[in-house]
Amino acid sequence: MIHPIISGNKWRKLKEYIGLAQINTSNSIISFGGAYSNHLYALAYVGNQFNIKTKGIIRGNELTINSNSYLKQMSEWGMDLHFLDRESYRKKIIPVEIAKENVIVIPEGGFSKVGVSGLESFKNELNEQIKADYIIMAVGTGTTAIGISKFLKIKTIGILTLQNLNEIENNCQEFELEDLLEINANYIFGKYAKGSQVLNEFCDTFYKKHQILIEPTYTGRMFYGLYDLIKNNYFPKNSKLIALHTGGIKLSD
Ligand SMILES: Cc1ncc(COP(=O)(O)O)c(C=O)c1O
Repeated sequence: MIHPIISGNKWRKLKEYIGLAQINTSNSIISFGGAYSNHLYALAYVGNQFNIKTKGIIRGNELTINSNSYLKQMSEWGMDLHFLDRESYRKKIIPVEIAKENVIVIPEGGFSKVGVSGLESFKNELNEQIKADYIIMAVGTGTTAIGISKFLKIKTIGILTLQNLNEIENNCQEFELEDLLEINANYIFGKYAKGSQVLNEFCDTFYKKHQILIEPTYTGRMFYGLYDLIKNNYFPKNSKLIALHTGGIKLSD
């Protein structure tokens, strides 16, 4: 609820980079993502609002700015979009025409020490409201979960949304997390963003019951996993849990 577009964890992962770009206004920011990336969508909007040039490197050279309404919107907000074939994207090759410019590069999904450091202020926000035994959130790159366990120092359960457990474990090694972060890979539902009737129904029922929107890719998988863990007595009785809604709700297609 930080903002309808830069929602959930997006602002926290971006804000330190925005600070860096503002120090030197000739800097533009480059980042990477798929055709529906929440991260790039938020970056495009923030760039527009703060008058910072942004460039998005998109996976798939078959795409254009008109392939979906998110790409179109990002372009309208002023993000310069570059479409890469999947092999070059995997290698994170920055097109030569922009590689020589003065740019700040944000890795895919915002994972880096800078991205993680944006989670620090969350500690005070949360501590003022609630003391909990566990905090649970969806994991893509792990940036949010790593930041939370690092700064909040409470038991953190990350519900993995894609088959990248090794990458997350490597990412964790860059930080001293004192065994507080546990990654659960049981709720991936096959692969990233794969459709599932079970998940869709779960999200609908959840909305009807709580009037809180969730979507199947991240928050739906997380809440589904959380309910399942509760059902299977994973948490000791009377534990206080925080489920972190990481945003990702786009209201148009
Ligand atoms: C809505 C939503 N939740 C969770 C995540 C995962 O966050 P992280 O990459 O920090 O693990 C993302 C991806 O950025 C996301 O868009």
